[in-house]
Amino acid sequence: MKQTRTLCLAACLALALSCGAPKTDSTIGASPEVERRVEKILAQMTLSEKIGQMNQVSAGGDVSNYTDALRKGQIGSILNEVDPVKINEYQRICVEESRLGIPLLVARDVIHGYHTVFPIPLGLAATFDPDLVEQGARVAALEATAQGVRWTFSPMLDIARDPRWGRIAEGSGEDTYLDTRMAEAMVRGYQGRQLDTTSMAACIKHFVGYGAAEGGRDYNSTYLTERQLRNVYLPPFQAAVEAGAMTLMTSFNDNDGVPSTGNTFVVKDVLRGEWGFDGLVVTDWNSMGEMINHGFGVDRKDVARKALQAGVDMDMMTYGFLSHLEELVKTGAVKESDIDNAVRNILRVKVRLGLFEHPYVDVEAGAAVQYAPDHLASAQRSAEESAILLKNDGVLPLKADAVRNILVTGPMADAPHDQLGTWAFDGEKSHTVTPLKALEARFPGKVTYVPGLRYSREKRDAFPDVVAAARRADVVLVFLGEEAILSGEAHSLADLNLKGSQSELLAALKATGKPVVATVMAGRPLTVERDLPNCGAMLYAFHPGTMGGPALANLLFGDVNPSGKTPITFLRTVGQAPLYYCHNMTGRPYNGETLIDDIGMEAGQTSLGNTSYYLDYGAYPLFPFGYGLSYTQFTYSDIALDRTSYGADDCITVSLTLANTGEYDGTEVVQVYVRDLVGSITRPVKELKAFERVSLKAGESRKLELQIPVSSLAFYGLDGVKKVEPGDFQLWVAGDSASGEPVPFTVK
Ligand code: NOJ
Repeated sequence: MKQTRTLCLAACLALALSCGAPKTDSTIGASPEVERRVEKILAQMTLSEKIGQMNQVSAGGDVSNYTDALRKGQIGSILNEVDPVKINEYQRICVEESRLGIPLLVARDVIHGYHTVFPIPLGLAATFDPDLVEQGARVAALEATAQGVRWTFSPMLDIARDPRWGRIAEGSGEDTYLDTRMAEAMVRGYQGRQLDTTSMAACIKHFVGYGAAEGGRDYNSTYLTERQLRNVYLPPFQAAVEAGAMTLMTSFNDNDGVPSTGNTFVVKDVLRGEWGFDGLVVTDWNSMGEMINHGFGVDRKDVARKALQAGVDMDMMTYGFLSHLEELVKTGAVKESDIDNAVRNILRVKVRLGLFEHPYVDVEAGAAVQYAPDHLASAQRSAEESAILLKNDGVLPLKADAVRNILVTGPMADAPHDQLGTWAFDGEKSHTVTPLKALEARFPGKVTYVPGLRYSREKRDAFPDVVAAARRADVVLVFLGEEAILSGEAHSLADLNLKGSQSELLAALKATGKPVVATVMAGRPLTVERDLPNCGAMLYAFHPGTMGGPALANLLFGDVNPSGKTPITFLRTVGQAPLYYCHNMTGRPYNGETLIDDIGMEAGQTSLGNTSYYLDYGAYPLFPFGYGLSYTQFTYSDIALDRTSYGADDCITVSLTLANTGEYDGTEVVQVYVRDLVGSITRPVKELKAFERVSLKAGESRKLELQIPVSSLAFYGLDGVKKVEPGDFQLWVAGDSASGEPVPFTVK
């Protein structure tokens, strides 16, 4: 049966609203009443109480350590306390024993779930499913707020194009548009569509450019031009602000010599001035103090002044504001009005969250919310949608009735801590279902488990125990990857091959001649080219979280058809980094020239074509952005635009027929890419402008219509003004960034 369906693409707000896409609300919780209350409190505050609000400390341990400071109003926020009994006590001291009774903002890094852990953000991005990601963030908020945490340091919106960088795990990958859609979804999920006691203020971070650290080495310098910032790195932040994000964190890096925590241009001019952000700006952990290490200030007093003047409201763990602002005001080095503005921004968040009315949580009720069945179901669905099928020679899906002896092996098969991934402080091993546990529950008596390697870095010379077990098995399920500790903050790597003897284990399994299915759980796209020939199928699951086990069992046995797509380019070798699909067109694009093995002895200097590629690895990645297989096949046909020429205010309607021509029901992520052929500056070879998940039954085909506002083609050109430049364009509709045929159109 053929149907027509209009897919509404939220690439521009005005159009998105008319298409019925999620409403964004940059003024969530804002009202004259909120402002009136903020002013009333501010008017009663002493300078010292104001400065106290601007101080955030890491709590934990005994509450009594902080009683005195809380009574004096010297702490505006704490992080790292998750015991609801203690949180209530912190709040009680503030509310009942401090002069003005201002409650605390209690913060935590709730990055991909609280107790119920979802896939790492890079895995969530692979779902290309913003609604599901919003649902996951809502679950995190429900669990965390029920225990008193009202502020999360998430989402991380850093575009990252170098998988050596360990924090690539924490973001949505390399693409501005995908990152933007995920940013909006997470903000809505954490804060809720309307503010109430389950709203957890989102903190968009790290502002800005942090993911472009030189060499992928964490905390390193970046050299992004203003145009790159505006065209690539800032849009997700702006979209998140428009979606109502209440707080923002400055980053550790210096960009072009200016550390973000002292960067007036990005914080004051762009964020506050251009975008009208009225939320709270917090530093990263001691990033104010680290401006001294950067050589951007002589001492703590100096950097405290610079941070305040750049537009920072709250100091995380430098104690620079607390120790020096009073003196800086008295000497006239800073204005008290700047302090007033910072305090307004902090109080505004507290008032909007309803903290004055609801400072306490019900401890018993809060406990009951954790790991609720629907939370686990949502985490499982997210893990299912985030897995990417990279290779399948037909071994998958496995037939449950046909297997009698399944060998489960590999260091990630039963690693409950590691499958949660980085930044899962509150996830618990005891609640995590590993693939081994899920498979044993599903196939009692049929699973043999021989770990082979106890952890991902272990080295072994031979695997006689695993090989012997493989020979007795019908199928070998090997779970490879990297431990959680190998990705995340400060965990960069220079070599992205599977660590330890994992590749050797896989090769030994392959040599048995048994069907081998590899599942990789990792915090980044590892370089698995050498491993692909040694398995019949490879499923890339990132770190899938609490319910990774049941999700993977469903995928391997075909209850769920893989639908994840790569949110980042998968490299053949680490030396290709950074390699990303939307690079600018060079003057000498690669044209399939000679590779190293074909170069003759004494070949002439100019015999190789003189284009942009590596002699040893060519120009292409292992898997392009947007790639992922399914157990079924999808074909695209009848791709057409409604017109050949558009005005700047028009909407492009793309039509196509998508057919599921295989034997399984499945879901395809339809992707639309656009290229602006000639601009006032060089333009990317392709840019993702829209995507939509489409589910089709086996044999079903459907006519689809997608709409793309011409305004979404705007960029900051040579004159520094954002606009759509008239001219010729090309558009692709395909299942990944490297497929499809261009359709031409013009913008007048
Ligand atoms: C440092 C990290 O860079 C940041 O992302 C995190 O939120 C803070 N520490 C607080 O834990």
